[in-house]
Amino acid sequence: MRPAPLTAESCRLLRSRLGERSLPRNRRHDDVSPDDPDAPPPPSPLARRGPPAFAALNADPKVMEFLSRPLGRGASDALAARIRDHFARRDFGLWAVEVPGVADFIGFVGLSVPDFEVPFTPCVEVGWRLDHEHWGKGYATEAAGAALDFGFRRLGLEGIVSFTVPANRRSRGVMERIGMTRMPADDFDHPALPEGHPLRRHVLYRAIRRQDPVADSPLC
Ligand SMILES: CC(C)(COP(=O)(O)OP(=O)(O)OC[C@H]1O[C@@H](n2cnc3c(N)ncnc32)[C@H](O)[C@@H]1OP(=O)(O)O)[C@@H](O)C(=O)NCCC(=O)NCCS
Repeated sequence: MRPAPLTAESCRLLRSRLGERSLPRNRRHDDVSPDDPDAPPPPSPLARRGPPAFAALNADPKVMEFLSRPLGRGASDALAARIRDHFARRDFGLWAVEVPGVADFIGFVGLSVPDFEVPFTPCVEVGWRLDHEHWGKGYATEAAGAALDFGFRRLGLEGIVSFTVPANRRSRGVMERIGMTRMPADDFDHPALPEGHPLRRHVLYRAIRRQDPVADSPLC
């Protein structure tokens, strides 16, 4: 999987890798028969990949180095439930990432609405977490670019944010490669972490919707 020019074809391929669902508005996944030609993939791409793979990802200390801590099975299942709930309420969320011919689940990338209050909320965040065996290949950048595109074109968002701790060089690299920019004045303390916690300080990156006729075309 390599980043490719944003043609209609590459857009479709990437979206299907991300498990994009395309339900008409006001229909819920549980209302749709599996034989319905409009039926989306099964609910929650993460649930489809199976809790063990998701739990292994969340339990890996290397993957969780810049997050508060590795998650035990209970906390991982609770996170999967929150992701399912986010999809049910908003019809977008954190998608499973598959690399065809390589692995059917390498982690997740997607959009979510943070549930804490800081000066830039409410907002939509783009985020990612991949199995470390699949780092260094551009997968996060490609999938994150598709998630941004989904947010701007399909959801009509004006802006999308991303944030991490200053030391998370890999995550900041993804933000920069997908064209997000950081204003140091936006740096903030994460309210979920106590004062003095080494991961409390965060940097914020923003992407703004581009107003150009190609990006706004209905091709993808
Ligand atoms: C953040 C994370 C997703 C980044 O993964 P990553 O593999 O570094 O990012 P990408 O998939 O975009 O790959 C970029 C790397 O692949 C290389 N690469 C190879 N082919 C590439 C291609 N076609 N396109 C872009 N990059 C490519 C780049 O040079 C870069 O290499 P580098 O690490 O030597 O600089 C990953 O480190 C991770 O899951 N971390 C743990 C979870 C986490 O911290 N999440 C963020 C919390 S805020």
